[in-house]
Amino acid sequence: MSDLDIQQTDDGNLPVQKITWKMTLKKICCIGAGYVGGPSCAVIASKCPAIQVTVVDLSEERIKQWNSDHLPLYEPGLDDVVKSCRGRNLTFSTDIDTAIQEADLIFICVNTPTKNFGIGKGRAADLKYIEAAARRIADVSKSSKIVVEKSTVPVKAAQSISNILQANVKPGVKYQVLSNPEFLAEGTAVNDVLDPDRVLIGGEKNSLGKEAIEALCWIYEHWIPREKIIVMNTWSSELSKLAANAFLAQRISSINAISAICEATGADVSEVANAIGTDSRIGSKFLKASVGFGGSCFQKDVLNLVYLCECLNLPEAAAYWQQVVDINDYQRQRFANRVVESLFNTVTDKNITILGFAFKKDTGDTRESAAIYLSKYLMDEEARLRIYDPKVEKSQILRELTHPCISEDPSRVSKLVTIHQDPYEAAEGSHALIVCTEWDEFKTLDYHKIYQKMLKPAFIFDGRIILDHEALIEIGFHVETIGKRLSRKPVHRSIAPSTQ
Ligand code: UDX
Ligand code: ADP
Repeated sequence: MSDLDIQQTDDGNLPVQKITWKMTLKKICCIGAGYVGGPSCAVIASKCPAIQVTVVDLSEERIKQWNSDHLPLYEPGLDDVVKSCRGRNLTFSTDIDTAIQEADLIFICVNTPTKNFGIGKGRAADLKYIEAAARRIADVSKSSKIVVEKSTVPVKAAQSISNILQANVKPGVKYQVLSNPEFLAEGTAVNDVLDPDRVLIGGEKNSLGKEAIEALCWIYEHWIPREKIIVMNTWSSELSKLAANAFLAQRISSINAISAICEATGADVSEVANAIGTDSRIGSKFLKASVGFGGSCFQKDVLNLVYLCECLNLPEAAAYWQQVVDINDYQRQRFANRVVESLFNTVTDKNITILGFAFKKDTGDTRESAAIYLSKYLMDEEARLRIYDPKVEKSQILRELTHPCISEDPSRVSKLVTIHQDPYEAAEGSHALIVCTEWDEFKTLDYHKIYQKMLKPAFIFDGRIILDHEALIEIGFHVETIGKRLSRKPVHRSIAPSTQ
């Protein structure tokens, strides 16, 4: 891409660019074909037919799946978007170097998990994949690039990427690093990219930075109104992403903390959420009490913020945000305790059916899912788990449960856990059923049939507040849910259901 190379003259301190980036933006490369890179770049390809988009990954298996009829992740609407442009202007490849060399603009969409070793263990983000991607760009690039960090990163990561690129720059090559955090949520990823609340772009204020920002704006303007694109400095952009996720997670922890009060007093958390949500200053979204938030972002990003506060010597701010994660741990543990307590203080050798293993509905993703922790607590009590999820593969569930952080002895998992393809089969002979994910299909199961299959008294623990509790009590179930006291004793048909 020689036409992208920047012609510089020295007019004071600011380099001048003769050719605008957007005029020559023809090829995009996305490093990382995961939950962020895959959907966001598939939508870009579908909306920008004149731009060639190549999504690359180290994992041959993942790329093979992206090129098949069975995409590596379940996301409503994604199959259609991918099919509409794959082979036209959307390519999935493991040839990372060629894609980098040919690209004018590179999205970095690699994973940034929480470090589980060394400095910042358990809090800081592990930036080794970001650094590896940046080094690869520096090693193979022969022309100038706009490098865009899309992965969620700690504040100042763009600076680190820039430092790596500048320290290894080849003659005649220039880099502009932008921050463009992705706000898509799993399960609604395609819609979120197609119709975002906003697009955030952070960059440098000099003329080259502004050119690069304009080029990225130009891509989004293919389908997003300009007024929804917010431009700011790089650090603000990086911090905004962490802060947005921390605020969302904080809302869930706040309502979950209220749910504990509800259970202790007889208030109903759904009524409380409804009441406070009607205040337009508070708003009604993200006030659904649950068994705890999961997913790859919330815990990681809040801990990232905690670590940032600690590094900046702001211990009070760190402690404040740490509480969001602590309440989430508390909620999961509290729910598990309630299961054990209700089942006459022992679950040892009891069959417990877990409905849902994904961290939320409409995704097959299980990262940090509350179901993992609940399973761990119950396995620690030697319960026998019968797990069903409509979208999560058996191998994935077993991988999560045999992870060293969950099971010290993985052989216990094969002894205690069975995975089922059918919810009725999973409920067979169970003492209790726990709803961990809010899959719509769980609302319409035939609970009469399930009741017949279960041991009595039959318990249902609704960790997502999605079931018709009165109807279940009417069938004969003992029902427990989050943030509301229902009948405490097994109820029989002849006994009027109690609400206390
Ligand atoms: C989140 C952010 O929403 C998204 O903007 C960001 O880009 C990535 O992180 P995601 O983790 O995919 O997205 O899902 P989200 O819908 O935010 O749910 C996260 C967790 O919170 C899930 O476990 C969900 O079940 C739980 N949740 C959500 C609640 O328990 N109650 C709620 O009211 C909302
Ligand atoms: P996210 O949810 O942030 O998208 P994922 O784990 O789903 O995270 O996807 C990240 C992807 O990035 C993985 O498929 C991983 O193989 C890929 N990846 C990590 N490092 C590199 C790299 N240096 N080059 C190419 N791909 C990479």
